[in-house]
Amino acid sequence: MGTFSTEKSRKMYERSLKFIPGGASSASRTPLEGYKPYPIFIEKAEGSKLYDIDGNVFIDYLLALGPTLVGNANPKVINFVSEEIKKGVTYGLPYELQISVAEKLIKNVPCFEKVSFMNSGSEVVQIAMRLARAYTKKDVIIKFEGAYHGWMDSVAHTVHPSLGVDADKKIRDKMPIGSGIPENSYKDIMVLQWNDIQGIEEAIKRDRDRIAAVIVDPCMCNSGIIPPEEGYLEKIRELTAENDIVFIFDEVITGFRFDLHSAQGHFGIMPDLTTLAKAVGGGFPVAAYGGKAEIMDLLADGTVFRAGTVNANRVAMGAAYATLEILEEGNGRIYDQINRVGKKLTQGMEEIIARENIQAILTGFGTMFQIHFTPLTRIRNYPEFCRSDKDKFMDFRNRMLTKGIFIRPSHFGELYLSAAHTDEDIDKTLEAFEDTIKEMKKEH
Ligand SMILES: Cc1ncc(COP(=O)(O)O)c(C=O)c1O
Repeated sequence: MGTFSTEKSRKMYERSLKFIPGGASSASRTPLEGYKPYPIFIEKAEGSKLYDIDGNVFIDYLLALGPTLVGNANPKVINFVSEEIKKGVTYGLPYELQISVAEKLIKNVPCFEKVSFMNSGSEVVQIAMRLARAYTKKDVIIKFEGAYHGWMDSVAHTVHPSLGVDADKKIRDKMPIGSGIPENSYKDIMVLQWNDIQGIEEAIKRDRDRIAAVIVDPCMCNSGIIPPEEGYLEKIRELTAENDIVFIFDEVITGFRFDLHSAQGHFGIMPDLTTLAKAVGGGFPVAAYGGKAEIMDLLADGTVFRAGTVNANRVAMGAAYATLEILEEGNGRIYDQINRVGKKLTQGMEEIIARENIQAILTGFGTMFQIHFTPLTRIRNYPEFCRSDKDKFMDFRNRMLTKGIFIRPSHFGELYLSAAHTDEDIDKTLEAFEDTIKEMKKEH
């Protein structure tokens, strides 16, 4: 890459600010996320690359915040959707393709007996919670400190509370993610500490008659990936089954990231309900929720209300169908490639970390992982995650950017791999990583 300049992006950001609050339509694309002093503006994304309007080309580990598992602008998906939309985008009536997508999902996602569609992860989390409450005739939902389940009022709190100096195991008071979220809207959410078996045992013992559901992101992907400790998800499954509580897997990020059977297949846990978005649509606006027929059928007779003018439109279903076709090919052969390059990258990084003797660890799995600059050797919960050095992460991230490697500017997130990432991409990334770590060692 030549001289790194983002001058055109700067100008476009200034123009954008005049018309769009913050210059973009999600906080995660603005300086609030860490894009300081402004985000780069994108010309196009193709395969494993991101092209900005200044002519910079990056190896893309943002991958649209997760969705483009089959590569950016995958031609098979684009062509399929382009043909489909010639038939009209949405009708306010059902059509066959949605059944085909449902069949594919039910074949692959272990807990799916019935499935339905919406457009974003935030929406499907809401309907899953509504179903759980209707099914159990109880109100309280357990979520975990550090977990993000979308931006809606009912769950957008205690996501990343500031811990101050005492990063102990205490759960912070419920804190909304921003202003304008009334306390009443999340009064029936109980917040617990991730990976704390005793905590959930006590809560369920005490409040089993009030608890409708436990919702987990099985790898707590929005706090830099905190995998479940051995036996933890199994214990939640056991406790929820014994106490008439619905177990919801929010697989908006993990869905189809491990393999065709998602995190529930990987960990061997059968939840009652599951939410999917991101990777299932390859970057198009698609979300799905499903699970036990007995629960999902509450939608059929109107006991539980759901709607949405553009739900299951042809763009969404076309994208999901084509993406699933790619993922299913050769019984999920594509995952061998993604996991192989992912492993090559993470192993390479770990070798460099050891060789350079720096305080850092990786958490996650082949196709998604995060680097933590931390004195800890493992991270089990949000307070432990908070011991990671955020400033060091940002310094690392910004140095990688100037070397053509695009990583989300937030240690809350992760790096994503796609089927389009090549050995050459990984070699370049490892070279940039080694140089960056050496520079940081010299300067810190
Ligand atoms: C685990 C999880 N659930 C729900 C959501 C909300 O999804 P969306 O942004 O599509 O509304 C996200 C978004 O990042 C997520 O990571």
